[in-house]
Amino acid sequence: MTLLDRIATEISATGPMYFDRFMEMALYDPGDGFFGAGRLRSHREGDFLTSPEVSPLFGETLARFVAGERDRIGGLDAVIDCGAGSGALLAGLVDEIPDLLSYAVEVSPAARESIQARVPGVVVVGALDEIPERLRGVIIANELVDNLPAAVAVRTGDGWEEEAVAIVGDRLGAAPVAARPDVAAWAERFAPGLPAGSRVEVQLGAARWLLAALQTIDAGAVVMIDYGDTADGLRNRRAQGTVRTYRAHHLGPDPLLEPGATDITMDVAFDALAAVAAEAGAEVEYSTQAEFLTRWGLRDRLSELRHAELDAARSGPVMERLQLRSRVTEAETLLHPRGLGDFRALVVRRPSTATA
Ligand SMILES: C[S@@+](CC[C@H](N)C(=O)[O-])C[C@H]1O[C@@H](n2cnc3c(N)ncnc32)[C@H](O)[C@@H]1O
Repeated sequence: MTLLDRIATEISATGPMYFDRFMEMALYDPGDGFFGAGRLRSHREGDFLTSPEVSPLFGETLARFVAGERDRIGGLDAVIDCGAGSGALLAGLVDEIPDLLSYAVEVSPAARESIQARVPGVVVVGALDEIPERLRGVIIANELVDNLPAAVAVRTGDGWEEEAVAIVGDRLGAAPVAARPDVAAWAERFAPGLPAGSRVEVQLGAARWLLAALQTIDAGAVVMIDYGDTADGLRNRRAQGTVRTYRAHHLGPDPLLEPGATDITMDVAFDALAAVAAEAGAEVEYSTQAEFLTRWGLRDRLSELRHAELDAARSGPVMERLQLRSRVTEAETLLHPRGLGDFRALVVRRPSTATA
């Protein structure tokens, strides 16, 4: 039975499927889900190109952040990369801090294989709950939370309904259903004052993930880097909603058309994640990716590389100059204000006093 057939069977048995359940099946089904099965997605020949795939300087900069946390809390047990993809980020990071125990959490078997081959020594697991709890650690999630299953809520005149997935004719289509209380409460709190018809992705899956991540560390930090914004920034985008699909580096079709064959993603509601963290007693720091990477030294590295490139242009071999040129271009790409630099970074810290 295909994934589409299995989704249709579940809908026939229990009625319209909430969008978060649909995302769970379309992305994570072990046999046919976009991440659960198939090839490696996050690399140049895959479906999307992420910061660590653009440049090893991303992992190198994150290594300085991790070292900063180690100094802040006085020692670190481990670094954990969640949704580690090909292992590119960990490879750059482990080069800088080779003696630190590192874990990769990755749901995709193809990605797990890639990490194991690329970063020997890393402990690769399939889920966060396979990592021992109460670590002094840093958890990194680059472009992970935008994939975690979310419900879709639609603003009505006086409240919220959910857009579920139903069988319409001979295909899947959207169907309005009554909103679950926790979905309506989230939408009311984190998407206030929107006109009727607005569509909001209710990111309770991301909230649960962050709470589990905070549970894993006794001291240290969780850093989430992704596309998204706060409620103010997302306001206009919520007229249509931000759910979209990707395949082979391009926007893909409607998510209901080919479940399992495309990525399904959305803009991350960062203020909702910040609220979860603050309510769990953590300290929160929110910035753009460019600001975060600058704080941890990437602009200084860029300026060193530009100087080295100039020197090489005067007297060095051509190959060296060309290599330096590409390192410079890659670093500029990570910082670009209309591209990756405009991603957001949310750092959530367990206060160092929690280690006592
Ligand atoms: C967009 S890719 C980012 C990969 C990597 N972090 C990078 O920046 O190149 C998302 C990755 O997260 C993995 N993933 C998605 N949901 C996950 C989950 N719930 N737990 C662990 N890994 C997950 C996917 O398999 C995929 O490799």
